[in-house]
Amino acid sequence: MSFVLFILILFISLTVYIYTNYQFVTTTLNTHTSYSSQFSSISRLTDGWKPVGHTIDEQNLLHDMSIVVAAWSEYAEDNIPKVPSLSADGHLLVLSAAASRIRYGVSLTFITVYPTDMKTVLPKHISSHPLSSNQQSLWCIFSDGSVTPVYTYDSKYGNERVSLLDCPLSPFANDQLWKLNQTIRVYLASTTTKDRKIPILKAFVKVPVVSVTPSNSSQESFTLCTSPLHNKGKYLVQWIEFHRLVGFRKFIIYNTTDTDDYLSTIINIYTQKYPGLVDVVQWNFSTLGLVDVLPTRYFQTEALHDCLIRYGDQSEWLGMLDLDEYIVPLPPYETIVDYVHANFGRRIIGSINLWSQFFCNKNASTYTPEEKDTNRLTIERFSFRARNRHKRGREKYLYRPRFVQYLSIHHQIVGLSKQHPSEKHITLAHYVSMNRLRTMPGCGFNETVEDSGVRNRFANRVKTTIATLMNKH
Ligand SMILES: *[C@@H]1O[C@H](CO)[C@@H](O)[C@H](O)[C@H]1NC(C)=O
Ligand SMILES: *[C@@H]1O[C@H](CO)[C@@H](O)[C@H](O)[C@H]1NC(C)=O
Ligand SMILES: *[C@@H]1O[C@H](CO)[C@@H](O)[C@H](O)[C@H]1NC(C)=O
Ligand SMILES: *[C@@H]1O[C@H](CO)[C@@H](O)[C@H](O)[C@H]1NC(C)=O
Ligand SMILES: *[C@@H]1O[C@H](CO)[C@@H](O)[C@H](O)[C@H]1NC(C)=O
Ligand SMILES: *[C@@H]1O[C@H](CO)[C@@H](O)[C@H](O)[C@H]1NC(C)=O
Repeated sequence: MSFVLFILILFISLTVYIYTNYQFVTTTLNTHTSYSSQFSSISRLTDGWKPVGHTIDEQNLLHDMSIVVAAWSEYAEDNIPKVPSLSADGHLLVLSAAASRIRYGVSLTFITVYPTDMKTVLPKHISSHPLSSNQQSLWCIFSDGSVTPVYTYDSKYGNERVSLLDCPLSPFANDQLWKLNQTIRVYLASTTTKDRKIPILKAFVKVPVVSVTPSNSSQESFTLCTSPLHNKGKYLVQWIEFHRLVGFRKFIIYNTTDTDDYLSTIINIYTQKYPGLVDVVQWNFSTLGLVDVLPTRYFQTEALHDCLIRYGDQSEWLGMLDLDEYIVPLPPYETIVDYVHANFGRRIIGSINLWSQFFCNKNASTYTPEEKDTNRLTIERFSFRARNRHKRGREKYLYRPRFVQYLSIHHQIVGLSKQHPSEKHITLAHYVSMNRLRTMPGCGFNETVEDSGVRNRFANRVKTTIATLMNKH
């Protein structure tokens, strides 16, 4: 009995909370008030509707749509395409949606394919009508009928393009996510086409389970996302174990196409041994038949932003690397945590840029037997490197999601300051020939220098941690 009372009180306080914290550009329907189709702006205020939209027509359309949405039950078959998908009006191709508290306050972000790329990315038989997002009037409608405006950003940086849509969470959606830990259903509505009376897209969003444990020396947590994997699972364990040794506490695998059992086996072992250490984000769009504009990539710029929005709330530092890239703190620093603590403390900065130090073959046109042996760790196979760091692109970076808004593969593009650390303190060891023979600047015959530092400092420890991982008990 007292439990029922408790729930009742909880419900009442929540309702009061929602109605008293009601300042934002958001609307909620009072479903108990009957709705007259001849409402004026005044009568709408009395039924709980605060007008959103620029014109009366738009306000009416949104009001109607919000009533429709609020009436749908959670399991209703509404025929509205679900993310990832092309929107019903063909104007948007949305790959993912996630909520975040650090991004412009409490908001929801949709990651979409850049409009001019849609024709290339979609299969030929699917008709789309790409429109840049600022040519559209878009709104988020939550399942209680609350409506918030969508803000848009088209990011274009060389051949890296992505568009983002951002809407504030209504108080209802905010409580569902962060107080009640519920999955929310959100609809994207468009008033661009006047005769479309229902939303164009829907997504289900939940808060990722918070499982990042801060490293003990500084209360900072460091997370690494992989670039979308192309069947490179065999290099994953050593990459994770190395980065675990230098202080990373969470790893996110962007799984695109790995259908072989190996990746699943690895993920299962990690889940058993170190619960919460490794997450998999499904990043395959095969059922939609999508191809990236660049054949060598798989929606990597979109994945970068997905990682920021999905994990930015949980981690003080984030990065996205390929499996042939290793972040190496140099003596006296043993971990990235020590390095960052000693050099930046709690200074407010955006990112730390890391120029690639190419590790290449002794002879560019062939592997030595030692370099060829993939039973050895990558950091053991290669010990010849370019004399200097490569400073014309190909860098990667660690960033503070709190202070960074938009990203490119090689550096943050909008956010607070980019730091360029001393090459004596930290490096990005880039094993360019890990997978196939490749010649890089500074890697020609007679140009390289021998450097066994990474191998000597880490190889044995990585082997020990791999043995511990693989040992069943
Ligand atoms: C939230 O719900 C998920 C299941 O959807 C559960 O695994 C997780 O532990 C919950 N988190 C909290 C803080 O209750
Ligand atoms: C945590 O702190 C202890 C004592 O200072 C240290 O020995 C240990 O290596 C630290 N662990 C990590 C993961 O930093
Ligand atoms: C990776 O994605 C593929 C689909 O592209 C799926 O079949 C496979 O089970 C996924 N692997 C893991 C470990 O999630
Ligand atoms: C991705 O792969 C998973 C697992 O194989 C599958 O359930 C899902 O439908 C795929 N998603 C897309 C968009 O292709
Ligand atoms: C590199 O390897 C190729 C193929 O084995 C060989 O022909 C060439 O002489 C080697 N170059 C050097 C400088 O050792
Ligand atoms: C190799 O380097 C030495 C000294 O740095 C130089 O004298 C020699 O000409 C170089 N050989 C080639 C083939 O470039």
